[in-house]
Amino acid sequence: MKKNYLKTIALALLAGSFLFVVNTSASEEYDVKAFGPETPIVWEKPTKVVFEHRSHTDEIGLECSACHGEIFAMQRGVAARTGKLNMASLAEGQFCGACHDGETAFASDTNCAACHLPPEGSITWEEPTKVTFGHNSHTDDLGIECSECHNDIFAMQLGMATNSGSFTMAGFAEGKYCGACHNGDTAFASDTDCAVCHMLPEKDPMVWTKPVKAVVFHHKVHTEEYGLECDSCHNEAFAMKIGTAESSSNFTMKALYEGNYCGKCHDGETAFASNTLCNTCHIGVKGYNRMMGIDSHSGAQQNEQGGH
Ligand code: HEC
Ligand code: HEC
Ligand code: HEC
Ligand code: HEC
Ligand code: HEC
Ligand code: HEC
Ligand code: HEC
Ligand code: HEC
Ligand code: HEC
Repeated sequence: MKKNYLKTIALALLAGSFLFVVNTSASEEYDVKAFGPETPIVWEKPTKVVFEHRSHTDEIGLECSACHGEIFAMQRGVAARTGKLNMASLAEGQFCGACHDGETAFASDTNCAACHLPPEGSITWEEPTKVTFGHNSHTDDLGIECSECHNDIFAMQLGMATNSGSFTMAGFAEGKYCGACHNGDTAFASDTDCAVCHMLPEKDPMVWTKPVKAVVFHHKVHTEEYGLECDSCHNEAFAMKIGTAESSSNFTMKALYEGNYCGKCHDGETAFASNTLCNTCHIGVKGYNRMMGIDSHSGAQQNEQGGH
């Protein structure tokens, strides 16, 4: 009995010293009481903001009471739940703005990247056309400050521009959004070099089935093989959205002969005329196979299906 009791104490001491060792090694790395929580406080919405306790306590030397009490509760999420944690309230001296006023610490309307993390990688819009915007290439490679775009040109929230209705080529031509810089002055104009911002659709070739089956159009043959610029078709002859021409009742041979759609070029001068070589555009023929990269043998099945 006594022996067991001693054993228990010995074990307890061992365990205690073990815990003690763990504790000191932890506190050497990070002292929660002195510095506050180790994991950063992160707000995800509406934008991503990161607050590090350690930089404010250990490095800058602020007491816990500099923030806890009047400015912030000692619990994550409280400030956000007030619904008032935003740039406007910061500018009025609340929350971070109590110090980040340009006197005690750098002002909240400067140095955006200190508190806000830019999105990782590129931003891609799918609608109405697919466009990829190199956020990093503008900030890191071109050295443009966050504040040159945010918030005067772009809100710091994905989707806001799209919702505005003027995030369009026409809007850019008026100097809005990308057009604020892509005006031929600060950066290449948005009505040139379409392919720098826009990508060819993945679906190549495109096949129209209305009103007749089936017409094929191969982007790459036109852009790469024949070296045509995007704007030789977009937007005069074709919208940059699949199905637009097909949804018009005017997408007919008559319209082509009159110089519209494919007929803008397929007029017998720029390219073979629309009233010749029917089988080059209409499926079931050599031209189709050539565009598809199919040799005449494996393409036999296609040939049988085609025509109208
Ligand atoms: C510069 C301001 C500032 C200072 C100084 C500061 N804190 Fe905080 N602390 C915050 C903010 C901001 C939050 C998050 C509040 C919120 O989300 O509403 C927070 C939250 C906390 C939390 C809650 C964490 C959680 O996970 O819920 C604890 C604990 C805490 N602080 C401890 C401390 C201690 C201890 C000190 C001093 C060593 C300290 N803080 C100093 C700003 C500060
Ligand atoms: C009690 C005053 C106080 C409050 C409140 C405060 N800060 Fe600070 N902060 C400072 C001071 C002082 C500095 C250092 C001086 C400077 O850089 O201008 C600083 C520096 C910083 C830095 C740069 C240091 C680093 O970590 O790289 C960031 C980022 C920062 N604060 C974010 C915040 C955010 C986000 C909030 C609100 C959640 C906040 N601060 C609230 C006083 C404060
Ligand atoms: C001292 C830290 C700090 C600095 C500097 C800062 N912000 Fe903020 N910002 C915040 C905090 C905190 C929030 C609210 C929490 C969130 O959105 O996750 C916020 C929210 C926002 C929001 C969404 C809410 C709103 O007010 O519309 C935008 C947009 C924004 N900031 C833009 C900017 C821009 C642009 C700059 C630079 C000119 C900047 N911020 C500089 C801390 C900062
Ligand atoms: C050349 C212009 C430009 C610059 C410079 C720029 N941004 Fe952006 N940023 C954008 C655009 C465009 C969007 C998307 C806005 C939209 O869809 O309405 C965006 C969106 C954001 C978002 C929201 C992401 C999301 O998922 O909601 C954050 C955060 C952001 N930027 C942070 C930054 C920071 C931090 C910097 C500086 C390091 C910066 N930006 C510099 C153009 C820019
Ligand atoms: C604050 C000014 C500014 C804004 C706003 C801006 N850009 Fe740029 N952009 C530049 C500058 C400067 C260059 C490099 C100069 C040049 O190539 O003419 C550039 C280069 C580019 C490039 C080529 C480099 C790369 O990233 O591959 C693309 C693509 C581009 N911008 C797309 C966009 C799109 C899309 C938008 C709108 C969502 C936009 N830019 C908004 C200033 C801006
Ligand atoms: C600086 C980058 C940039 C350049 C250069 C550019 N665009 Fe755009 N374009 C965009 C962005 C951003 C959008 C809006 C987002 C989306 O559609 O996904 C857009 C949207 C469009 C749209 C759909 C909305 C609308 O305005 O009808 C068409 C069509 C279009 N572009 C055609 C063109 C053509 C044709 C060219 C060349 C003459 C061109 N773009 C050059 C960035 C650019
Ligand atoms: C010879 C004419 C021609 C040229 C040149 C051309 N396109 Fe197209 N493009 C079309 C046609 C036709 C459509 C389908 C329009 C329709 O269905 O109404 C289309 C549609 C598109 C679409 C929409 C795809 C979808 O899924 O909605 C994109 C994006 C596009 N083109 C990008 C480009 C880009 C980028 C270039 C330059 C690199 C380019 N195009 C050059 C004829 C052309
Ligand atoms: C901007 C001018 C332009 C427009 C618009 C255009 N094409 Fe073409 N197309 C050409 C040129 C140039 C050639 C190559 C010269 C030639 O074959 O006469 C060509 C060649 C072709 C070829 C032969 C490809 C091969 O195998 O070599 C086909 C098929 C074709 N176009 C279909 C179409 C269809 C379908 C449309 C409408 C949806 C269209 N094109 C719109 C300029 C255009
Ligand atoms: C440059 C490409 C091209 C050539 C060459 C061409 N077509 Fe078409 N054709 C089209 C397109 C594009 C449509 C509309 C889309 C669809 O019906 O699928 C069309 C539609 C049609 C239609 C249905 C609509 C209407 O106008 O009644 C008929 C019929 C037709 N073509 C017959 C012909 C004949 C016959 C020839 C040769 C004399 C010919 N096509 C040459 C591209 C071409």
